[in-house]
Amino acid sequence: MIHLSPAVATVLRELESFGAANDAAESHRERKMLNLDWPAAEVLHLAVRQSRRRRILEIGTSNGFSAIWLAAALPADGTGSLISIDRDPDKLAAAARNLDRAGLRSRVTLMEGDASRVVAGLDGPFDCVFFDAARVSAPDQLARLLPKLSPDASLFADNVLSHPGEIEGYLAAVEGSGLFDSVVLPVGKGLAIAVRR
Ligand SMILES: C[S@@+](CC[C@H](N)C(=O)[O-])C[C@H]1O[C@@H](n2cnc3c(N)ncnc32)[C@H](O)[C@@H]1O
Repeated sequence: MIHLSPAVATVLRELESFGAANDAAESHRERKMLNLDWPAAEVLHLAVRQSRRRRILEIGTSNGFSAIWLAAALPADGTGSLISIDRDPDKLAAAARNLDRAGLRSRVTLMEGDASRVVAGLDGPFDCVFFDAARVSAPDQLARLLPKLSPDASLFADNVLSHPGEIEGYLAAVEGSGLFDSVVLPVGKGLAIAVRR
């Protein structure tokens, strides 16, 4: 069991319920929340917390469910920050509200726009990147990020088992870079973890 602050735990449980109900009822894909499954979020949180990541980038914010898990994994001494990108302004507004309610808004910079374009304009270094947006364009984002990664950077990507065809280009790019050791955990929709050699 992961012990989260009451504010964080309350918001996360609410978002879990909201996302499940919303996504079951919503026929338009862009209006679904598509949040990370709870067990995968727990793995992501523990891995980030244990490795003391301080400069985290998330691609695909939605309404902030995984951003809250990531921000809650930043060092407790107040150092470290998360940048999270989404192209949907309504989802980003919801993420801002949810992060605020969780007491984590000050740790997170939300950026609106196409992920590849936003990533191109970011300064590194990042010691952790979570890819959870456009799986087909993730290789392009990875290529732009490689020069901006710290020597010990770790990468995470969701949907490896649920969308193998869409994610295969990303997995091939990670392997082809020759920079990472990687594994796919059969948790949630399939979580890929890559750690720089
Ligand atoms: C799977 S959801 C993210 C879920 C979120 N990480 C969570 O677990 O709560 C994917 C998000 O990526 C955004 N997205 C999709 N393609 C994008 C792109 N090319 N650039 C920026 N955001 C994109 C969508 O608007 C959507 O909110």
